[in-house]
Amino acid sequence: MRYRVSHAVGALALPSLSSATLLYVTSYTGTDPSAVPGALTTLNLTISGYSAGSLQSIATSTECGAYPSWLTLVGSNLYCLDEAWNAPANGSLVSFQITDGKLSLLDKVTTIGGPVSSVVYGADGHGLAVADYGASGFNTFNIANPTHIVPIQASVWDLPQDQKDRNSARQKSPHPHQAILDPTGQFVLVPDLGFDRVHVFAVDRNNLKYTEQYPLLINPGSGPRHGVFVVAGTKILFYVIAELSNQILGYDVLYMADGTLGFEQVWTSSTHGLNGTVPAGATGGEIAVSPDNKFLIVSSRNESSLSINNWDTTNSAKLPSDPLITFKIDFETGALGPVQTFAAGGLIPRHFSINKDGTLVASAAQQDGRVAIISRDPASGVLKEYVANIAIANVNFAIFAE
Ligand SMILES: *[C@@H]1O[C@H](CO)[C@@H](O)[C@H](O)[C@H]1NC(C)=O
Ligand SMILES: *[C@@H]1O[C@H](CO)[C@@H](O)[C@H](O)[C@H]1NC(C)=O
Ligand SMILES: *[C@@H]1O[C@H](CO)[C@@H](O)[C@H](O)[C@H]1NC(C)=O
Ligand SMILES: *[C@@H]1O[C@H](CO)[C@@H](O)[C@H](O)[C@H]1NC(C)=O
Repeated sequence: MRYRVSHAVGALALPSLSSATLLYVTSYTGTDPSAVPGALTTLNLTISGYSAGSLQSIATSTECGAYPSWLTLVGSNLYCLDEAWNAPANGSLVSFQITDGKLSLLDKVTTIGGPVSSVVYGADGHGLAVADYGASGFNTFNIANPTHIVPIQASVWDLPQDQKDRNSARQKSPHPHQAILDPTGQFVLVPDLGFDRVHVFAVDRNNLKYTEQYPLLINPGSGPRHGVFVVAGTKILFYVIAELSNQILGYDVLYMADGTLGFEQVWTSSTHGLNGTVPAGATGGEIAVSPDNKFLIVSSRNESSLSINNWDTTNSAKLPSDPLITFKIDFETGALGPVQTFAAGGLIPRHFSINKDGTLVASAAQQDGRVAIISRDPASGVLKEYVANIAIANVNFAIFAE
């Protein structure tokens, strides 16, 4: 169906003007667990005109546990990680079957502890690699049968003495923060916030086993949190967001003849760009690449540097917001050029994601407890307007079901 758009900027490439898309979001338990239990929620996004959408909760599950932190969608199965802050040790990997957005529990297995990110790897997508922030580990699972998840391997790190001696508050132990598959499917990379390095694992596509390789070392005190690969013609770039130094670091990725991975650093800037100023107290959050590999977006938390209209349209008081910052990637040099700083829709945007055609961004503002859907022009990379939003206390992660 086609709709005529009377809005002045109607010529923008927007998501089809009448459509419904599901999203999955996770939220942590609140200070009063009976009022705000940790949850995995399915949202139904309906867009029915320029900037006129609705976001409704259509299913909620508390079966992932009290501190759900990350979701990986594999066909009609959803894999949820529970950080389990309430437990002295270990965390969980929980599988669900999705039917019309409804979630039914399939299996639940133990991870090393405090899992915060997972990624699919291996032939037929039968491996799932998990980064365990809390317990300083990394583990892998066979998910060929989602009703029977099978552990494969695990690693736990400790800091060398000289690093312990630094006694930095956030870096008292290794904190693996994400698991990322390289574009060739041969390596899983794990930025470690506590250890100032990115662990590199060569993964066997068939038996799903990993071999740890020499890591990518990051400057002391940087706190590498998340990373993203960018495929630029024949080149592959890798960008890291460092939470503690509030930097974006860019690397040319080299596939060596001996089967190892090499990195040549080509870019260093703040999360606000080369000449940008990072407000005191800010912490780098998420980093993502647009589907066309042309733009990089990062979130910066704890800034309150922008202000937005109140979601309650009867209330004229503005609300503070942290930013989502967009850069254009220069494939030749790896340089990031400034495009836009846009309000994330609230405070502490711990996570955001971009839909497949690059027309929408889902932003999860943890402190405000709100998911905001923002329209995006894929050609210019510019974020445009809030098209829908919903209040979900302690929300920390949001992905599109596609
Ligand atoms: C999402 O909302 C649309 C519009 O109200 C509705 O047609 C559709 O059935 C909903 N999807 C689900 C899975 O509930
Ligand atoms: C659970 O945590 C303990 C203590 O950290 C660890 O030794 C054990 O390997 C963990 N279990 C699994 C299945 O990872
Ligand atoms: C940014 O800073 C660099 C050096 O720090 C300078 O050479 C460059 O001209 C500046 N760019 C802009 C756009 O101000
Ligand atoms: C947030 O920033 C303020 C300074 O504006 C700082 O005092 C506070 O420690 C920061 N909070 C976190 C969690 O980093």
